Amino acid sequence: MSKPKVIVTRRWPHEVEQRLGDHFDVTLNEADRPYEQQELRQALLLADAVLPTVTDRLGADLFAGGVRARILGNFGVGFNHIDIAAASAAGLIVTNTPAVLTDATADLAMTLLLMCARRAGEGERELRSGKWTGWRPTHLCGTQVSGKTVGIIGMGRIGQAMARRCHFGFGMEVVFFDSQPVPHPGMPARQLATVDEVLAASDFVSLHCPGGGENTRLINERRLARMKKSAFLINTARGDVVDEDALVQALRERRITGAGLDVFETEPSVPRALTEREDVVLLPHLGSATSETRIAMGMRVIDNLSAFFEGRTPPDAVN
Ligand code: DGY
Repeated sequence: MSKPKVIVTRRWPHEVEQRLGDHFDVTLNEADRPYEQQELRQALLLADAVLPTVTDRLGADLFAGGVRARILGNFGVGFNHIDIAAASAAGLIVTNTPAVLTDATADLAMTLLLMCARRAGEGERELRSGKWTGWRPTHLCGTQVSGKTVGIIGMGRIGQAMARRCHFGFGMEVVFFDSQPVPHPGMPARQLATVDEVLAASDFVSLHCPGGGENTRLINERRLARMKKSAFLINTARGDVVDEDALVQALRERRITGAGLDVFETEPSVPRALTEREDVVLLPHLGSATSETRIAMGMRVIDNLSAFFEGRTPPDAVN
């Protein structure tokens, strides 16, 4: 029997590409640049499985009129770049890679929180530019994190992993919002009834909800106004959860103290209004970027594909 035809839209870690090639008839994107829309459409027409990432926008137009592909194995946990309803209507199963990137992403959220609190980005820029004049008692003083309150928006796996780091590692109080009851959050933590209540109570707000849908611009001008003046906003979720213009305005007017962002509305372009500010820490979507995690994510995609083509339900089907 011939192997299912699989198109991978970006290069993956070597070990994963090797295993993929053992089981499937694989076409790799040798150039490792994002596919154009018509290339994605072609992929859906030519392959039995297409393996996209967050850089591929798979809107309803790509599925219109039917496609050959029967499964989309997304390399990543977030899938708001895929129109799930349209993919389902066209008969495709969509899978993602939950759980394997929880620790890496929570580590990066903690990195941003600490960098913001301790002005680490400012310090590094000062030193590298030769402007450091030596130790002095008032130099680049940041904010202590122990004893402060972190507010988690979205208490799923990553939110809980972040909360554990904050509570057990750094002695912080935890409050959170989640649209579902979370009876056993794994640490002493208070679930508050609204996002606004969490914003008002927190010294650091860390976003861990999915992007798209009702979460688009969840953190807008009105909600930023609920935050403490001394507070920081951390986003490792999706860029569209934050209204970037409103965030810049809040920073300019010193209505909040700073922000740590790993994700942006129109990646990879990042507004100049953000890159020119000292009070933000900006990273290029590195949440899951450890070698171990990226390998685990790829292997998870393969597990899902194998299940599907062997007639079993893929463990991480999202539709
Ligand atoms: C994820 O897994 O969702 C990462 O953000 C990359 O897509």
